[in-house]
Amino acid sequence: MTATATLPRATRGVKDLYERYVMNTYLRQPLVLTKGKGSRVWDIEGREYLDLFPGWGVSALGHAHRFVQAALRGQAGRILHVPNTYYHPLQARVAKRLAERAFESKVFFCNSGAEAVETAIKLARRWGQGRYEIIVMERSFHGRTTGALSATGQSKYQEGFEPLLPGFVRVPFNDLEAVRRAVTPKTCAVLVEPIQGEGGVRPASTEFLQGLRALCDERQLLLMLDEVQCGLGRTGAWFAYQSSGIEPDVMLLAKALGGGFPIAAVLAKPPVADVLTPGTHATTYGGSPLGCACIEAVLEAITKEGLVERARTLGAYALDRILAMAQHAPLIKEVRGRGLMIGIELVVDGRPMVGLCRDRGLLINCTQETVLRILPAMTITKAQLERGLGILESALVDFAKGSHA
Ligand SMILES: Cc1ncc(COP(=O)(O)O)c(C=O)c1O
Repeated sequence: MTATATLPRATRGVKDLYERYVMNTYLRQPLVLTKGKGSRVWDIEGREYLDLFPGWGVSALGHAHRFVQAALRGQAGRILHVPNTYYHPLQARVAKRLAERAFESKVFFCNSGAEAVETAIKLARRWGQGRYEIIVMERSFHGRTTGALSATGQSKYQEGFEPLLPGFVRVPFNDLEAVRRAVTPKTCAVLVEPIQGEGGVRPASTEFLQGLRALCDERQLLLMLDEVQCGLGRTGAWFAYQSSGIEPDVMLLAKALGGGFPIAAVLAKPPVADVLTPGTHATTYGGSPLGCACIEAVLEAITKEGLVERARTLGAYALDRILAMAQHAPLIKEVRGRGLMIGIELVVDGRPMVGLCRDRGLLINCTQETVLRILPAMTITKAQLERGLGILESALVDFAKGSHA
């Protein structure tokens, strides 16, 4: 990490203010971003970066997409907020569009991925009528609020926050027999990410998802899919579960949904959705006109610009390119992913690679200490992607020299 004293002046000024006034809950890189356009961002010093990890998956349309800008401007001039004690047309329209894209469902709108998970937990418990256990996966990540944290399958995030919410039973990911063994008379649901993001870009196998569907049907459990990170086109399908030919009972969306505006959605099949009756669940900002206008813009952009297909073809290209890179890069242990959601697992701690790439003008992420993760915008050009992967490759070469010196 760059020492504060060596940072450029404007960057240091902002960092100093953070140190004095902002809670220190994030491990931040020494980078102050002030502008973004497509897959490019600029820092306060005027330096440009290519962003292969825009907003942790939020900016899936790229930064400042014109549809989202227009939706925000247009809606801001009409009405910003309508409380959920009234109706407004956008919320209805957007719920219909989501259900049409996904499965026959009703939607609850909220504000973040974790809040969508909280909603799913309440939905499952209420639907379970006394059954309350939810089977969750090792290495899963579902967010930081108390319920979502309890559902998360990584103890490192939970330490110091015990006692957790009871009722979560953790099993190995992609192990259908383990799930089957974990079902008890108290089980009401299984919660799974079709592709674990934070857990190291690990796709659920088709057999696992199909097996879960059959098991849930057999034991009358809800199959709840957390598509907060992998949903909305990124994997080359509108929703990641669609490539397995199954349908969930409940699906959670956030991140890309608002194109940068914080909004999330829980889709549930009608008989399940109907257990949440007036007064059982609510959130003040949920489904605001501003947020729903952004969702509408995002859905329109994905459709009109053919971004699902684009994620599929560009993703296949990127995966091939990285696999070719891996032939000559002994540091690479495995390459995983689907569409534009890709993880490169290294045989060593990959965290220094984030700084090495940043110094060369490229933004990436590293998760689980050894997995380099990229979630490029679905609007990225092939030339930009190629350039980004070229920088990544050269950084890897230098990293290998350094780490084996
Ligand atoms: C799969 C998944 N679920 C839930 C969350 C939590 O979302 P949020 O940070 O919006 O609360 C995340 C965040 O990374 C996630 O990746």
